[in-house]
Amino acid sequence: MRDTKKEVAVDESELFRQLEYMHKIREINDAYESKTGIKKKFYSLAMGCQMNAHDSEKLEGMLDEMGYERTNEETEADFVIYNTCCVRENAEQKVYGKLGWLKHYKKDKPDTLIALCGCMMQQDTVLSTLRQKYRHVDVVFGTYNLYKLPELINSRMESGDSVYDIWQEQEEIVEDLPSIRHFPYKASVNIVFGCNNFCTYCIVPYVRGRERSRMPEDILNEVKKLAADGVKEIVLLGQNVNSYGKNLDDSVSFAKLLRKISDIEGIERIRFMTSHPKDLSDELIEVMRDCPKICKSLHLPVQSGSSEILRRMNRKYSKESYLETVRKIKEAMPEITLSTDIIVGFPGETEEDFQETLDVIRKVGYSTAYTFIYSKRTGTPAALMDNQVSDEVIKDRFDRMLNVLNPMIHELNEKLVGKVVTVLAEEISKNNANVLTGRADNNALVHFEGNKDLIGQLIPVKIVENKTFYFIAERI
Ligand code: SAH
Ligand code: SF4
Ligand code: F3S
Repeated sequence: MRDTKKEVAVDESELFRQLEYMHKIREINDAYESKTGIKKKFYSLAMGCQMNAHDSEKLEGMLDEMGYERTNEETEADFVIYNTCCVRENAEQKVYGKLGWLKHYKKDKPDTLIALCGCMMQQDTVLSTLRQKYRHVDVVFGTYNLYKLPELINSRMESGDSVYDIWQEQEEIVEDLPSIRHFPYKASVNIVFGCNNFCTYCIVPYVRGRERSRMPEDILNEVKKLAADGVKEIVLLGQNVNSYGKNLDDSVSFAKLLRKISDIEGIERIRFMTSHPKDLSDELIEVMRDCPKICKSLHLPVQSGSSEILRRMNRKYSKESYLETVRKIKEAMPEITLSTDIIVGFPGETEEDFQETLDVIRKVGYSTAYTFIYSKRTGTPAALMDNQVSDEVIKDRFDRMLNVLNPMIHELNEKLVGKVVTVLAEEISKNNANVLTGRADNNALVHFEGNKDLIGQLIPVKIVENKTFYFIAERI
């Protein structure tokens, strides 16, 4: 039965195969270090969303295991890896720009290896451009076979030729890959891969494949291990976490998964993203309300306020149903903060449609909004739609939208001044060694005086100043 369902099976033998390659490459790198006294360095850049960043943590873990040391200076690297994104055109242009620069870099340092992976590599046009114009790239792989990095580096080292390995689907996941977490006390955990929603503007379903939920026991085991390792905050990841479990044999809803995770000792905070508004259930609102470990902040992308545009985006909710969902959430949790994604200039968007978006912004009162100019993605239905909006009109709407959003965000934040919030101290501020930064339960970024011994603790602080994108607080 199991193989007819869209769930992710685990392949344990593959982990051991890759570990062997990691150790083989480590021996080569260690020998180089003994001879020269220099350790080989890697530079890693995650260019996309949180899932992309989480994938990079695994790539970095494997590179560390292979005897490479991280550098934050690209010009020091012996191994450069870009984990690419293609959700908007500018993300792709950035990669080509960097590859141009690396061509010169490699002239001076010919032994440098360059690897590209991630969503952009799942497109045939990109691969043929790379093969024709960017022959200095050494290793190319996609979103489904990330765990093969050690084997692919080994092939490149043995053959001396560039290695391309792109899959169109993946049945199995390799669990327990080495990983370097960006924060010791906060960790991301994938719960569902891929996406089935096919919003008409979006390329993600084509490059990440169909929705596949991980088995609940695999997720719970990972979270338990993280808790044992000192992690206090878990961020559950999926393009649409609300559809978690729908295809599993023993169907488990996202809300039920959340309850199970919140029972794990040591985990003090749970966040998740992204919630598709069409699948946000009453059960989820109840669990969020009742479970103190679940943070009271929610990312609920609206994309547009116009029901007609939403219909053509294939979002499967209307302006009214979105606002009704927001009403229920706020009724259950009056203190909750909401954030969103908005696209301006979807094909056929009229001034009236745009005014509907402004209306939603005013009615909801977001604490953060990620705003995007519509980007035409070849292969998506929207790219073929008539009435693409001109750059000039889009730019004007975009500016007007920010003029509505920014003062509202500032005003909403003012209400937090004087309030006591609990912050998970994450790191020392980059600008001041006596200042710690962290996030409050409601996701507000907070700076307060303290020393590094407090990192990893949940600390009550009083907010004293609103700096729009962050707050200053004092310990109480
Ligand atoms: N799965 C998430 C978001 C994934 S992509 C969701 O459904 O909300 C992150 C954001 O990029 C989207 O929410 C959308 O606002 C934006 N985006 C996606 N495709 C885009 C495009 N072609 N042009 C502009 N923005 C886009
Ligand atoms: Fe893209 Fe829509 Fe899937 Fe989000 S839900 S990844 S916007 S297709
Ligand atoms: Fe980009 Fe892929 Fe994420 S296209 S937004 S990195 S899923």
